[in-house]
Amino acid sequence: MSRPLVLAIESSCDETGIALVEGGRRIVSNVVASQVALHAPSGGIVPEVAARAHLRWIVPVLDEAWKDAGATWGDIDAIAVTYGPGLAGSLLVGINFAKALAWVHDRPLVAVNHLEGHVYAAWLLDPGQEPGDCPEPVFPLVALVVSGGHTFIAEMRDHLTYRLLGTTVDDAAGEAFDKVGRLLGLGYPGGPAIQRAAENATRYDVTFPRAWMGDSYDLSFSGLKTAARRIEADARQAEGLPSDDPTATLSDSTVAELAWGFQDSVVDVLATKTARAARAVGARSIVLGGGVAANAALRARLAGEAADLGVPLIVPRPALCTDNGAMIGAAGACRYGAGERARLDLDARPSLPLATR
Ligand code: KG4
Ligand code: ZN
Repeated sequence: MSRPLVLAIESSCDETGIALVEGGRRIVSNVVASQVALHAPSGGIVPEVAARAHLRWIVPVLDEAWKDAGATWGDIDAIAVTYGPGLAGSLLVGINFAKALAWVHDRPLVAVNHLEGHVYAAWLLDPGQEPGDCPEPVFPLVALVVSGGHTFIAEMRDHLTYRLLGTTVDDAAGEAFDKVGRLLGLGYPGGPAIQRAAENATRYDVTFPRAWMGDSYDLSFSGLKTAARRIEADARQAEGLPSDDPTATLSDSTVAELAWGFQDSVVDVLATKTARAARAVGARSIVLGGGVAANAALRARLAGEAADLGVPLIVPRPALCTDNGAMIGAAGACRYGAGERARLDLDARPSLPLATR
């Protein structure tokens, strides 16, 4: 195995992920226990429930990761763990688990920013893949990170260095997907459900607003959410549905049309701004990461923008866009290589930032 071999732990939100990553790129094993079904009835993540589920699943997930890898502790060079941003209780489960393993097995501990993990997912290779099979991000690059809790555009001129170009001033893109998904009765999480509904659209007449925020690379999605409420209410009226009866639902075709219109607005703003940023900084590649990067419309649109600019778009396969341990292993290996070591008093940083202006 090429070095380092990193055991990586991710528990910042609602997925318990443990992976083994070799040489900072190759996935040896990557196991994710999702809590989606657990949180679906409440329509969102309940922090206390999430932390308890991490506790319940973290040991079985590690057992599974070992089984898939065929490696032993003797092969492991370092343990990487997400220490923020995220839910405090969820982060603490992963951090304390990682510390215990580091102490018992006498291995160095590396602290990883979850958002850096979403960026470094772009370097990951699946077990059968060779480095030549998929392009490696080249610097300078522009990264668009779009998740349930964060949305920003950053420039990287080298490994582990970030300059913030723009960020959401209110909701994250994923949060908007989740809220509008709930509004349209599509369940939780809203992102994949909106994508599926939008794929069935046959009418494309409803236009949702775009918050361009002048010339800046900043983003805003709260106005879009308010517009969605108004557009949904108008659609209910047009279909003769009583406004006070939530069990009376819009027709599937209207839901599909509204889902498409909403998604088109988010994708348009994200792709346009990212492409403009890439052109402005002379980026040689564009990286897309975070849960919303699993969205097929966003991937397709940004691929088109990147092709127009003549630079590669590097976007992980959808399962590596949403939270997982492998992305923490890729970022952790880079930090480990740079000589970074965390102490055993490492604490959770729920609001840890990544990039600054
Ligand atoms: O990165 P992630 O797994 O967790 C956080 O760090 O937040 O992102 C989760 C977010 C959720 O808001 C979810 O609705 C969204 O990613 N998402 C999608 C898709 N798949 C997941 N949004 C749009 N289209 C998708 N296909
Ligand atoms: Zn995430």
